[in-house]
Amino acid sequence: MTPFTFQTCPNILFELGASAKLPDLVASFRAQRIMLVTGKNVRGAGLTRAAEAALASAGLQVTVFEDVVADPPSHVIETAAQLAQQQAVDLVLAIGGGSTLDTAKLVAYLARSGDQLDRIYGVGLAQGQRLPLILMPTTAGTGSEVTPISIVTTPTGEKKGVVSPRLLPDCAVLDPDLTLGLPAHVTAATGIDAMVHAIEAYTSRHKKNPISDQLARKALALLAGSIRTACSDGRNVEARSNMLLGSMLAGMAFANAPVAAVHALAYPIGAVFHVTHGVSNALVLTGVMRFNLPHAEALYAELAPIFDPQAASLPAAEAATRFVDSLAAICRDCGAPASLAEVGVREEDLARLATDAMKQTRLLVNNPREVTYQDAFAIYSEALDGKLRTVA
Ligand SMILES: [Fe+2]
Repeated sequence: MTPFTFQTCPNILFELGASAKLPDLVASFRAQRIMLVTGKNVRGAGLTRAAEAALASAGLQVTVFEDVVADPPSHVIETAAQLAQQQAVDLVLAIGGGSTLDTAKLVAYLARSGDQLDRIYGVGLAQGQRLPLILMPTTAGTGSEVTPISIVTTPTGEKKGVVSPRLLPDCAVLDPDLTLGLPAHVTAATGIDAMVHAIEAYTSRHKKNPISDQLARKALALLAGSIRTACSDGRNVEARSNMLLGSMLAGMAFANAPVAAVHALAYPIGAVFHVTHGVSNALVLTGVMRFNLPHAEALYAELAPIFDPQAASLPAAEAATRFVDSLAAICRDCGAPASLAEVGVREEDLARLATDAMKQTRLLVNNPREVTYQDAFAIYSEALDGKLRTVA
């Protein structure tokens, strides 16, 4: 067997109404001064109310930082970390989507370690200590609550990652109640992102491992089985629970078998056109998978029966193609944008997107098939409006 390592969050609480348990969790860290990291929309929607009430009734001091925005800019993270230091915070609690959780991970790290953010971009450079950290996701998508990764938008608009085991939280608290009010388009985008995590983990080129494989398979079954219901009937607790569990399992999988070209090609779309991460993924998903088919056919064929049991009896090439088609159908049925043109991309933007995608070397090395600039340009070109162009 190929040697492998596997790391994940040491404590998981998955329960409806889990906010009520926060005082006990906080007490286990002997913390008194909590920083709640969140966003105005999440707080305005009342999603932090139960947590804040529980912490207040336990006599704990809570500093609220509610200025997190999507695709968190570095200066927002640095401001929050300074506030945490000024307030002598001794535990960071995050309630929100992936951007909030990514922010909180770095706030807990920077506030305690004293490191500079621009010195720790990359893999394994964050080696200091961090404050105790509890993460509560309000979307079923990023899996950030169980990954050692934070994605930051730099002042030049580039997306950079900090990857370090130090960013794994002490505890992930998952409460499906917090996801019941998510709009259908957010449910679709974040759910598709989670499915991409599972697929790219399963086909990851260098760190594919048997634990991630099993997590990815279970995640895909949960996500594919519930995403349509979660989009059409948002108050369905069972579907919401499956989505939240599936996204966490996919997060555990890709934290140890990293994602690849779908994410590499999605990031420039998000950075340049301010398209959400999940929608960016959906826009390039089937194009990248069709490109990967010659090298990933056997693995896609292994996953195909999770979506359609009849695929188990098909030749590998047919099963793999059916798997890609099934994903395209999910994207369509859930109302994800069908073309780059729909989100404002024009033909003259393709070269910049392809250039920026090639900078995502951390991700591209994991792809089952090598991606050149010409390949990236061709995938974007087809995603623009279904027509293939040649590189200018
Ligand atoms: Fe993602």
